[in-house]
Amino acid sequence: MKRRVSRVFVATTLEQPDVITGYYTLSSLSIEFDQLPEKLARRLPRHPLPAALLGRLGISQDAQGRGIGGLLLADAIKRTLAVSNQIAIYALVVDVSDDDIRGFYEQCGLLPLGSDSRRLFLPLQSF
Ligand SMILES: CC(C)(COP(=O)(O)OP(=O)(O)OC[C@H]1O[C@@H](n2cnc3c(N)ncnc32)[C@H](O)[C@@H]1OP(=O)(O)O)[C@@H](O)C(=O)NCCC(=O)NCCS
Repeated sequence: MKRRVSRVFVATTLEQPDVITGYYTLSSLSIEFDQLPEKLARRLPRHPLPAALLGRLGISQDAQGRGIGGLLLADAIKRTLAVSNQIAIYALVVDVSDDDIRGFYEQCGLLPLGSDSRRLFLPLQSF
C-alpha cells in the first residue's frame, strides 16, 4: 500500500474491532482484447481493456459461511464502480488461487476469462 501498487480493505466486527475477519485487495490491470468471449468483444474497441483486479479475498476460518465473503465482494464491486465514474474500468477481474473457491465467484456471476482457468471476470456494464 505504501508504494501505491495495491489497496487492502479489511472487515472487522463491532465486538472485536481489532480482529480482522476478512480482507480483499484491489489494484488495476488491463485485459487483452482476445481474452474476452466473442459475444462481448464484438461491441468493444480492439485494444487492451482497463480493469480492476481483486487480487485476494479471504475470510478467517471461524467466520466463513456467514455471508461476509459475499459482502466483501459487493463492497469491492461498489468501490470499483465509484472509481469507474472518474477513470474508465470495463470489468472486475479475480484470480482464483484454489479450485475449491471458484464456485463462490461463479455463483456471484463471474465468468471465465480467456484460456487461463484461474482468472474470472465480471463486466461492469450490467450495474
Ligand atoms: C471462499 C470465501 C471467500 C467465501 O466467503 P464466505 O464468507 O465463506 O462466503 P459467504 O458466506 O459470503 O457465501 C456466499 C455464497 O457463496 C457460497 N459459497 C461460499 N463458499 C463457496 C465455495 N467454496 N464454493 C461454492 N459456493 C460457495 C455460499 O454457499 C453462499 O451462497 P448462498 O448465498 O446461496 O447461501 C471464504 O470461504 C474463504 O476465504 N475461503 C478460504 C479461501 C482460501 O483458503 N484461500 C487460500 C488462498 S488465498
